[in-house]
Amino acid sequence: MADKIRVLLTEEEVNARISEVAKQISKDYEGREVHLICILKGGVFFTCELAKRLEIPVSLDFMSVSSYGAGTTSSGVVKIIKDLDEPLEGKEVVIVEDIIDSGRTLAYLMEILKQRNPKSIELCTLLDKPERRVKKQVQVKYTCFTIPDEFVVGYGLDYDQKYRNLPYIGVVEQ
Ligand code: IMP
Ligand code: MG
Repeated sequence: MADKIRVLLTEEEVNARISEVAKQISKDYEGREVHLICILKGGVFFTCELAKRLEIPVSLDFMSVSSYGAGTTSSGVVKIIKDLDEPLEGKEVVIVEDIIDSGRTLAYLMEILKQRNPKSIELCTLLDKPERRVKKQVQVKYTCFTIPDEFVVGYGLDYDQKYRNLPYIGVVEQ
């Protein structure tokens, strides 16, 4: 049977907020180029919508990672499934994520990517669930929405690989 999904953020609200964040990034990086790293698969819809709205030169790369861990908790050790195609040396990097939950994935990933000598590295996330944060050192420069501790789907986020294609953010009702 189909799951019941309650809308948390409409497509219009999400797109309007992405436009605002894109304006902010365009302003912050004025006169410079930004290298966006999309974290697959969840970050892909957000990355496209964000990139289209940036008014500065953009290059893109993609990375796919998975967390080793028992059950639903990520251990913080990240396995790289697909690495970047390009080196980061001297680039102004912005990592684009769908959601930051415990922060374990990003804490580990930031450490790995910093070793590749980017000129700068910042984090941009569509959603943040700060109540769930375990890794407090994860500094997020750009956040579209801070949400309560609920499991959300849509706009790239999945529940058992489903619902990534929903154009809005919703909560799966049990
Ligand atoms: P973290 O290492 O706990 O921060 O894990 C973040 C990852 O967990 C995200 O990139 C998502 O893939 C997944 N995740 C966390 N919360 C949700 C949610 O509410 N919906 C869908 N995926 C989630
Ligand atoms: Mg993800």
